[in-house]
Amino acid sequence: MKSFKILTFGCQMNEHDSEKLAGLLKAEGYRESERLEDAGLVLLNTCSIREKAEQKFYSALGKLRELKELNPSIKIAVSGCIAQQEGNAVLRRAPYVDVLFGNQNIGNLPALLKEGADMRVSTEFAEGYEHAVIPASRESVVTSFVNIMYGCDNFCSYCVVPFTRGRERSRRPEDIIREIEELVNSGCREVTLLGQNVNSYGIITPPSPSYLKRGTEGALLKNIGERYCDFPELLRMINAIDGLLRIRFVTSHPKDLSDSLIDAMATLPKVCNAIHLPLQSASDSVLARMNRKYTFADYMNKLGALRDAVPDLAVSTDIIAGFPGETEDDFQATLLALENIRCDGIFAFKYSRRPNTAALKLSGHLPESAKDERLYKILELQDRIMQEKINARVGMVEEVLAEGPDKSGEPGRLAGKTRQGKIVNFEGKPELVGQLMQVKIIEGKKHSLIGELTCRPDRSGVTHI
Ligand code: 5AD
Ligand code: SF4
Repeated sequence: MKSFKILTFGCQMNEHDSEKLAGLLKAEGYRESERLEDAGLVLLNTCSIREKAEQKFYSALGKLRELKELNPSIKIAVSGCIAQQEGNAVLRRAPYVDVLFGNQNIGNLPALLKEGADMRVSTEFAEGYEHAVIPASRESVVTSFVNIMYGCDNFCSYCVVPFTRGRERSRRPEDIIREIEELVNSGCREVTLLGQNVNSYGIITPPSPSYLKRGTEGALLKNIGERYCDFPELLRMINAIDGLLRIRFVTSHPKDLSDSLIDAMATLPKVCNAIHLPLQSASDSVLARMNRKYTFADYMNKLGALRDAVPDLAVSTDIIAGFPGETEDDFQATLLALENIRCDGIFAFKYSRRPNTAALKLSGHLPESAKDERLYKILELQDRIMQEKINARVGMVEEVLAEGPDKSGEPGRLAGKTRQGKIVNFEGKPELVGQLMQVKIIEGKKHSLIGELTCRPDRSGVTHI
């Protein structure tokens, strides 16, 4: 029997793309291998957001070369952002790669793998790809990723995503709703809506003519600025799906965080009290050079309004350390901001040069050692804050959705998440998976909580167990 193994690098979008690739391969009669060495097809789903991610890919590819030398029948496929961006350059560097395809060409995998296929590479722009429905083979039943949009039009000056994932495209609301309804019928209770900038969901045609300069088909010029519906409206529709218990979403761009989204988060009972709101830097001059289109004060005002409207909101953020021209004062402003915001989670990275991006041409690129030092200080500060925030949950009773067995494998223990998105491990029977529990938090670990089941809410109220 044909078998495959997928190695996924990068973000949740890539994780979900890998679930779709696994779905396609299983439909073609492939079986998933536990071990890389046993797979007839190894697929590397790549990330190019930072140089380090790219290095990881090339080192994994080097190891596969050795494997292929021992067993030449192994097929190697490369997908994701590096495949999209580098295209044939990957094949020149690694001629032993059999198949390569881009982010909009996932659906072509079966054709590329067919015996005698005349095509090895597929990275072309695929009109209407956002409407394709590719059944995913999902990691978890209870919680699922659902794409609501693809691509990004923001062109932050450091970021490669608009080049690798292309222009922003939204899926039709009816397709999204149908997918979630089907997921709920098979046991899903929580969805995480995925998009590079979910707050601008819904645009069918671009509002700005500058879009055209970036190479989009002329046909899209009709009805410029037309929308399916906006993100808060989409949330309302999803909130009305019977059987679904929770809704999360990533990522929100601060410039597009609207009052109506704040209202939706405050009023829709299934929308969790958590937001990922990347700040990047607290210095206005750095933000301007990043092309983020908000000031630090704008960010704090919006976050303040959100925190006023949504009680006990969990906030996570992204920070870039050592952006070109970042002064010591700029950096201190970011540290102070982190101290004041007190995030529940943070993804901090040192600035990394990316091909095609505008920031390459900025002056004041910092040496690696300076970037390392700043990154270290950010992570050190954040570790302390996060631990304080975790410990502050001890003694509280939280609503937890039981997602599955505890990852440690300890029998009789379950893992789930609070509404804020914090992981909780607790003793419980497997039948409870997929249900909401009331769990008393008894201990804070480094990145998770330990709890004790108290009771289980049902439709008529709360039932003690
Ligand atoms: N260097 C460092 N960090 C980056 N990010 C995106 N591009 C770069 C880069 N060139 C970070 C940003 C973004 C997150 C997904 O990755 O913080 O929000
Ligand atoms: Fe990259 Fe900015 Fe788009 Fe996020 S919003 S994907 S950081 S360009």
